[in-house]
Amino acid sequence: MNRDIPGGATGVISGAMSSPQAKPLRLGVNIDHVATIRNARGEAYPDPARAADLAMQAGADGITAHLREDRRHISDADIDALAALARKRGRPLNLEMAATPEMEAIALAHRPHAACLVPERREEVTTEGGLDVAGQHNHLAPVVANLKAAGIRVSLFIEADPAQIAAAHALGAQVVELHVGAYCLAVRERRPEAAEHYRRLREGAALAASLGLEVHAGHGIDYETVSAVAAIPEFAELNIGHFLIGEAIFTGLDPAIRRMRLLMDAARAGAAPSETTQEAAA
Ligand code: PXP
Repeated sequence: MNRDIPGGATGVISGAMSSPQAKPLRLGVNIDHVATIRNARGEAYPDPARAADLAMQAGADGITAHLREDRRHISDADIDALAALARKRGRPLNLEMAATPEMEAIALAHRPHAACLVPERREEVTTEGGLDVAGQHNHLAPVVANLKAAGIRVSLFIEADPAQIAAAHALGAQVVELHVGAYCLAVRERRPEAAEHYRRLREGAALAASLGLEVHAGHGIDYETVSAVAAIPEFAELNIGHFLIGEAIFTGLDPAIRRMRLLMDAARAGAAPSETTQEAAA
C-alpha cells in the first residue's frame, strides 16, 4: 500500500496512535445488504436477522439497519425481527433512518437503543453525504426531541465539519457519526486527498468529543482503512456493512467479522497489527 496515504491494514498513522487508556471501540455490523441480496430475487432468503445473530456471535457489539423510505433492502418486517432479536440477545439495535414522520413513528413504536438520522434521497445508491444539521435545525429539532423523550439515543450522521458538529451539539444529539466514506474511497483510489480527509476526521472527532458528544464513524470502511479509522481515539463505535457482506462471499460472515474486529482491536491498542495478528485474522 502507499505509505503516503493514511490508511491500510498496516498503515496506522503514528500521530493518531491510541494511548493505552483509549476507550474501547464497539463494532456495529450493518446487515442491509443481506436484504439487498434477498430482494434481488424476491425470495425469503438470505434472512437479515439470521445474519445479525451470527454477526453478534462473531463479535459485533450491535446491529445497524437502515430502513429506507423506498424499502430497497431492509423491510418493516425485518425491523420487527431485528428489534425482537436485539431484545432477546440484550444487544443494541441502531436504526438508521431519515427524519420523516413515517420513520419517526416506526422508531417510536420499536424504541431501538439508538436512531441514527441520515440524509436520504431516493435516487442515491447509498447515503452520499452527511446530514445538513446546521441548515435543517428547525426540521430536525422536534424529531431529535421526540426520539430522546422516548429514551432512544439520537445519533446524527454528519461530515467532520466544525459547523455541523456544533449544530449537532446545539440540537441536543447525544452522538455524532462522522462520515468516513470520502476518506476510505480516497485511500482505495490511492489519492493524496486521503491525508486531508484524515486530518479533518481527527480534528472533527476531537472537537465532537470535547463538546461531550459520543463519536462514531461509518461508511465505506474495509480491511485496508479500518486500522487508521480505529486509531482515532475519540471514536467509540464503527458501523460497517457493505464490505463485510461482500467479504462474507469469500470467507463466510463469521471470519470476515472476526478479522475486522482483530484489526480494530489491534489499532485501538495502539499497535499496527503484528504479522501474527494478521495471520490470525486472515
Ligand atoms: N453508517 C451510516 C450512517 C450509513 O448510512 C451506512 C451505510 O448504510 C453505514 C454506516 C455503513 O456503511 P458501509 O455499508 O459502507 O460499511
